[in-house]
Amino acid sequence: MSLPTLLRQPPTLRPALARTLASHAYNPPRPAFTPGPPGPPPAAKAGPSTPRAPPNPATTTSPTLPPDHRRLLEEIVRVDHAGELGANWIYRGQKWGSQMRGDKRTAEQVEDMWENERHHLNVLTRMAHQHRVRPTALYPVWQVLAWGMGATTALMGKEAAMACTEAVETVIGEHYDDQLRALKPVLADNAASETPHPSLPLMAEVLEEFRDDELGHLDIAVEEGALKAPGHSLLSAAIGAACRIGIMVGSKV
Ligand SMILES: [Fe+2]
Ligand SMILES: [Fe+2]
Repeated sequence: MSLPTLLRQPPTLRPALARTLASHAYNPPRPAFTPGPPGPPPAAKAGPSTPRAPPNPATTTSPTLPPDHRRLLEEIVRVDHAGELGANWIYRGQKWGSQMRGDKRTAEQVEDMWENERHHLNVLTRMAHQHRVRPTALYPVWQVLAWGMGATTALMGKEAAMACTEAVETVIGEHYDDQLRALKPVLADNAASETPHPSLPLMAEVLEEFRDDELGHLDIAVEEGALKAPGHSLLSAAIGAACRIGIMVGSKV
């Protein structure tokens, strides 16, 4: 089966990871998202008042969100935006490294996965604008580290490049799943609000879709020989640890 065809298939998770995610997965009920006016405005209070415009789902975050939920949203968007920036630079480095080795096939496989990451970054960039979230201040740092990680592993060989993808996507798949669980109370608050904000269930749907994409990349990496990389365990542990540190820092800075 060709790689583009594989990418269109529903991801078949590695058994161990699939079991872990299935036992912890948060699969929110999906309210239908219908673009348009977000329902009736709140009941008018007694006395003179200026009519309040309903929130515009295309440009704002719900003003009724408690501060801790607002902070959570900001962290999610900031760290995911930073993560997708990093992913784009990892794949860019991997493509360059594969081309340097004259490995056209791996370069094409990397390009196919990179295409997905461009889409993720595009969506996250729009979400950052929509929710007015400041992007990571560490962009130049992520850029250099991510490109270096991708390029170095690709220069080591195809299996090492795939081991890098496997390690990164394992951490990122779990990270998206953690975020979906953390969003659960925010979604419940939003649903109970007088002016439920459609961008929040939409955010959960986006995270779920991205999680599945990342796990699809993980499957491809394993099928393409990630586990045969020299020093696989060490490489995988080091890259996984770097990603976890990146996530920790990226949600705050
Ligand atoms: Fe991604
Ligand atoms: Fe990915």
